[in-house]
Amino acid sequence: ALQRTFSIIKPDATRRNLTGAINAKIEEAGLRIVAQKRIHMTKAQAETFYGVHAERPFFNDLVSFMTSGPVVVQVLEGEDAIAAYRKVMGATNPANAEAGTIRKEFAESIEANSVHGSDAPETAAVEIAYFFAGNEIVG
Ligand code: CMP
Repeated sequence: ALQRTFSIIKPDATRRNLTGAINAKIEEAGLRIVAQKRIHMTKAQAETFYGVHAERPFFNDLVSFMTSGPVVVQVLEGEDAIAAYRKVMGATNPANAEAGTIRKEFAESIEANSVHGSDAPETAAVEIAYFFAGNEIVG
């Protein structure tokens, strides 16, 4: 079914001017960018966004990294968008990502892995609402 997912182009990618290259991969995968804005996340925003990882050893580094430069937050729409985007992103660790995926081609490390995508419909809805008002999403 037609579905929406939430995406972040992370600071390692914006720093290397890869926003357009990543958007090309997204669009080639049949996903439509129905909302997009470039922001600098605050520490509080990053901590709340990644709240499920608060107890993980990499949490503090992750928050520092996500606030180290601009990000591009996006809403992507398409057939089974959540799974479709996870496929084009590739594995979290770029060392394990398949050829042709965003993370295989662009990611620097398991932390600086260029993109985030929602993992389920419930998290997609929460993540989209955290960054976008309804009238900012134009399908
Ligand atoms: P993301 O999909 O945004 O969700 C959590 C993020 O934590 C992940 O991508 C990585 O950027 C980061 N991260 C850093 N270290 C790890 C790790 N060991 N396992 C999973 N995620 C990690």
